[in-house]
Amino acid sequence: MLTTARLTLKPQVQTDAPALLRILGDAEAMRFWNRPPITDMAVIEGLVEEQQAAMAAGLCRYWTLWEGGDAVGSIDLSLIENQSAELGFLVRRDRWGLGLASEACAAVVAHAFGALGLDRLAAGTNAGNAAARRVLEKTGFRLMEERPARLAGGALEPCAFYLRSR
Ligand SMILES: CC(C)(COP(=O)(O)OP(=O)(O)OC[C@H]1O[C@@H](n2cnc3c(N)ncnc32)[C@H](O)[C@@H]1OP(=O)(O)O)[C@@H](O)C(=O)NCCC(=O)NCCS
Repeated sequence: MLTTARLTLKPQVQTDAPALLRILGDAEAMRFWNRPPITDMAVIEGLVEEQQAAMAAGLCRYWTLWEGGDAVGSIDLSLIENQSAELGFLVRRDRWGLGLASEACAAVVAHAFGALGLDRLAAGTNAGNAAARRVLEKTGFRLMEERPARLAGGALEPCAFYLRSR
């Protein structure tokens, strides 16, 4: 478990599915994810199950962001191998613009380079996702390249790729 000034980052558990449905079911939050919002509870439960299995296999780590008793987002390290990983994050829309994503990212970056012993973190986002790009820049990531790519298996879109070294 990680803590910041306002958030507790708890390792994701299956019972977080309803809170994640509220976030992943929001069309505005999913605008840059190249997939439609997920509105079916069974689909979210399946997704969380997959993420739990991947965590158990040591391939990734998912944390749910708790602001007091309210689950307001999710953050993850995926593709963990060779001292590197990829960072992903999302916050529920009614809590956007308050610095919560930046706060969570800073905590996970410190954990990745500290306890997890990683050397390199990557992150990719749709080039038009100004908020995500700003969060990455505020967290010390450097823009490496912009090119068309498929994020989350969706359509080919202009994307921006960032890197942060220890
Ligand atoms: C991206 C996301 C996580 C940001 O969460 P957040 O808690 O609002 O982020 P923060 O408040 O920490 O920081 C947002 C920054 O982006 C800026 N920003 C927001 N919208 C912006 C826009 N349209 N243009 C330029 N800057 C923008 C904010 O001003 C803030 O920067 P500042 O602190 O310098 O003022 C949230 O919008 C989200 O969940 N989006 C959907 C999922 C997603 O895109 N995840 C990222 C995939 S890599």
